[in-house]
Amino acid sequence: MKRAQEKGLLEVHVHHLRQWAVNEYGQVDDYQYGGGAGMVMMCEPLAKAIEALSADRQYDEIIYLTPDGETLNQKISNTLSLKQTLLLICGHYKGIDERIREHFVTREISIGDYVLSGGELAAAVLVDSIGRLLPGVLNDETSALFDSFQDNLLAPPVYTRPEDFRGWKVPAILMSGDHKKIEEWRHEQSLQRTQERRPDLPDQL
Ligand code: ADE
Repeated sequence: MKRAQEKGLLEVHVHHLRQWAVNEYGQVDDYQYGGGAGMVMMCEPLAKAIEALSADRQYDEIIYLTPDGETLNQKISNTLSLKQTLLLICGHYKGIDERIREHFVTREISIGDYVLSGGELAAAVLVDSIGRLLPGVLNDETSALFDSFQDNLLAPPVYTRPEDFRGWKVPAILMSGDHKKIEEWRHEQSLQRTQERRPDLPDQL
């Protein structure tokens, strides 16, 4: 992601919500109505932040990272990589006031069924998975096409030198120079691996 930014292919700006705090103490959260442990991030700082940032840029999506969002997958990353500008909201504590979700947020994404202490790592994961899909970010531009999940298939096994390591040999087909056969073998390995490890992925046969 650093190189993508240096090449001007990706811009990431981090904005601290306390700039839009409700008082001089930097307050951005408060107790939840109805009682119960845990603080909730207030409407006002979030609304002000979203409005101030939207004045500078038109956002294609305003995404809230949250464990109750749709689970991130390659298809979502592919879709988001085609957008120009995204605003990612990282929650903390119990989350953000529901009214912000209703009135500003256009998409809610979880990076998996576990709870992080804040949305920042989830946002970093999302930015990384989107950023590497931008044309020119990867050295070999075609390589993202063959990633695991790109066709709902896991990637085939890969090997590099030496051909024989401690008697453990590289499959002979890969040394054959027959590119058609190699592609068939790789596809077969992908199918087999997907069936064994991720039978839940939609069928690609
Ligand atoms: N914030 C806390 N946990 C999260 C998760 N699993 N995904 C996205 N955002 C989160």
